[in-house]
Amino acid sequence: MGIVDEIKQKIDIVEVIGQYTKLTKAGRMFRAPCPFHSEKRPSFFVYPEQQTWHCFGACSTGGDVFSFIMKKEGVNFGEALRLLADRAGVTITAGAEPDAGAKEKDRLYQINLAAAQYFNNLLINSSTGEKARAYVHGRGLKPEAISSFQLGYSLNSWESLKQYLVGKGYTEEDLLTAGLIIKSETGKTHDRFRDHLMFPIFDDRGRVTGFGARVLDDSLPKYVNSPQTPLFDKSGSLYGINLAKSAIRQQDLAVLVEGYMDVIMAHQSGFANVVAPMGTSITDRQISQIKKLTKNIALALDADAAGEEAMLRCVSYENALGAEVKVITLPEGKDPDEVIKQGGGAWEHLVAGAVPVVDFTISVAASRLDLSTARDKASLMNKLMPIIAEVKDVARQNHYLNRLAALTGVNQTRLEAAMVRAKPDQKAKETRVEASARALRSVRSNPVEEYFLALVLQHPELKARGSELPVEYFESSENGEIFTRWREAGDLEALKSSLDPAIREHLDNLLSRTLPDTRLEAKYADCALRLREKFLRNLETKKERILALEESGGSEVDLADLEKQQKIEVRHELQKVFNQKAKISKEGGE
Ligand code: CTP
Ligand code: MN
Repeated sequence: MGIVDEIKQKIDIVEVIGQYTKLTKAGRMFRAPCPFHSEKRPSFFVYPEQQTWHCFGACSTGGDVFSFIMKKEGVNFGEALRLLADRAGVTITAGAEPDAGAKEKDRLYQINLAAAQYFNNLLINSSTGEKARAYVHGRGLKPEAISSFQLGYSLNSWESLKQYLVGKGYTEEDLLTAGLIIKSETGKTHDRFRDHLMFPIFDDRGRVTGFGARVLDDSLPKYVNSPQTPLFDKSGSLYGINLAKSAIRQQDLAVLVEGYMDVIMAHQSGFANVVAPMGTSITDRQISQIKKLTKNIALALDADAAGEEAMLRCVSYENALGAEVKVITLPEGKDPDEVIKQGGGAWEHLVAGAVPVVDFTISVAASRLDLSTARDKASLMNKLMPIIAEVKDVARQNHYLNRLAALTGVNQTRLEAAMVRAKPDQKAKETRVEASARALRSVRSNPVEEYFLALVLQHPELKARGSELPVEYFESSENGEIFTRWREAGDLEALKSSLDPAIREHLDNLLSRTLPDTRLEAKYADCALRLREKFLRNLETKKERILALEESGGSEVDLADLEKQQKIEVRHELQKVFNQKAKISKEGGE
């Protein structure tokens, strides 16, 4: 699958556009005031099933999620691709990075590495680092752990890191971008991390993306982290992943703990399959990183975090992993850090005793209720039904219904019926629509668009004619992008070098297609006509949907009137296409 398809599959246009304008559900669509121009009546629509948008107002244009970002952020296709790739957690492979961006990132990695080494040296060697050395010693960290995690100390000074790095030739601008210094309101800059124990955060390839920092006493806030930077995104990071990767693969299990200290203590004690999400709840991006190594996850997180919402999320991880997520129950008030330090096999014992998250939830819920009463039985059902309903694996779902039946004395057939009833609540229904839209998204391709492109790319003699086509005819913006660049470029070489490397693969595919090479003109004409037909039909469908909406009680009559007008025009244009097609087929038959 190409990078563009992968991104399209992973993101939902409704979520993306929803961050720019307030979308309101309208039938099978979403509606909003157009984010591109100001208007009183919302004439901007998002179509989840097609993953497209259209403004029927002043813009009178539409497209997919890439074209939306290009227009809204004022960026080119390549930049939009990167923005969305980041969002989707898709890595654009190194070879596909545009040079400028790759160079900037390289420089930022270098800066982070230099900073990590600077902090590390201060912790190990400096006299001012004595206090920090005493602290890590007091927490039981050994020299090997300090070195493999590159722990460090930031001086109690406003400018020491800044001066050090500027002295190495980096600019203040770079340091700001890396999140290492802060600009105050007066425009002066100073070090972000001062008098803290420093935890460099590495990505899975061992590059420093950012820092966590802990105070050396009990003052608050206990931790500060790097801000979001081009390299660092809290929600995409897993602390310790660089050192845990191979152990996770070997043991076929990833153990998730809460904090930096827990990870380090685990590794130094020989439990190298341990990583931590960064203080926030676990994200899809973190799950997909782990999924490359193992399907099996055990969570050694705070027991209080076992609320129903958290459990629902765990079930969604299970569905993503295709395996059970287990829960390690920690002794009251203890971190993994402390359990591991205590030794004597306590940690191994806890990990071995991990319980599947749904079983865990059922036990916890049941233990808090008096199941001899009707009221508590009902309450147990209410709590657990939505969770069990989300379990995709049929055998497991059945197992849990069984357990619930045993606990409540309600027979399983009735529970199943109740579950079916519990499902079509609004939320479940929407997730199902989303799921089917997602499935659709993954297979949508545009054969006519691609055939057209292959044809004109492989036959330069068609260029003059091909240039006349409006770019709006291309529904996928990667096709539109190739078309636009092709129109501007003198030849294939020029096209290749002007195209973002991330979609060069797509271009290569188009170029390697085998096409017939007779009757080119006729094939071209036919293809262009089909593109036009597809475009008009799409437009017509979109407008029909809106009209249906208005007729079913919408109040924006003006828009409906306008749409009726425009719809007549679209009909008219389509009729012309049909006539032309009829004419061509008649000529062909002669
Ligand atoms: N965390 C954070 N920012 C905060 C608080 C917490 O990033 N303001 C993250 C850190 O990754 C931290 C983890 O959440 O390691 C767990 O926080 P907490 O339990 O408060 O800290 P511990 O790791 O237990 O720290 P320590 O053992 O040093 O007290
Ligand atoms: Mn702790």
